Amino acid sequence: MTDERKRPLALSAYEQLADDYAERAPTKPFNADLERPTTQGLLPDVSGMDVLDVGCGPGITTEYLLDEDAAVTGIDASPSMLSHAREHAPGAEFLRCDFGEGLPFESNRFDLVYSSLAFDYVSDWDSLFSELARVLRADAPLVFSCGHPIGDFLHFDPENYFETEIVSEVWTSFGDPVEVPTYRRPLSAILNPLLGAGFHLDRIEESRPTEAFREKAPETFERVSREPTFLSVRAVMTAN
Ligand SMILES: C[S@@+](CC[C@H](N)C(=O)[O-])C[C@H]1O[C@@H](n2cnc3c(N)ncnc32)[C@H](O)[C@@H]1O
Repeated sequence: MTDERKRPLALSAYEQLADDYAERAPTKPFNADLERPTTQGLLPDVSGMDVLDVGCGPGITTEYLLDEDAAVTGIDASPSMLSHAREHAPGAEFLRCDFGEGLPFESNRFDLVYSSLAFDYVSDWDSLFSELARVLRADAPLVFSCGHPIGDFLHFDPENYFETEIVSEVWTSFGDPVEVPTYRRPLSAILNPLLGAGFHLDRIEESRPTEAFREKAPETFERVSREPTFLSVRAVMTAN
């Protein structure tokens, strides 16, 4: 019997969203012209690297990494997302797992871990970053993005900035309305688990929209030019 308490927080939401997400996220301004250029801008030359794409969704980032000549393994909890990913990026390996419950890989396996907008759905970042540290080789980079702590604070308007808590909103921009739960956390709850796991912080970026964003969504461009939306981080594993 499935243990419902261990079901990933956003699994049901992403199962519902998968088809529309796969269709729209490749060009949707928040992804294509705000988050991805910023996070992918933190990547080193990945050619020849063995890369883990955590929360790969429908394989958009997986395909990008393959095109840059990396060998890529994508993991995700959503079977529907993975079925899009297998179609979209047939040159990669894919595995279904809940990355909040440990990673099914041997230690020191990967040259780089990449993750776009997936860590927010996991509660325990101490365990998450320890596991990422374990599967990375010494001196290997971790590049990831998450909700920006100030942007999320402004957006969700919670009572206490310092709490890590589940918040949720109904997404309509991918098609049918779907309620998507996520964790909102303060800056210290992002950086301290990373540093505590032995990562060295190399660079951070706060997403800024491209000109293509202005052309596609002029009504939102001004706000996302003034307020942070996503935080992108490059860290390096030093303690292996
Ligand atoms: C916002 S989507 C991002 C997908 C992809 N990285 C991209 O940028 O297009 C978040 C993805 O994380 C996956 N996810 C969320 N929580 C997860 C968990 N605990 N284990 C595995 N995958 C998870 C979801 O199924 C979804 O595909």
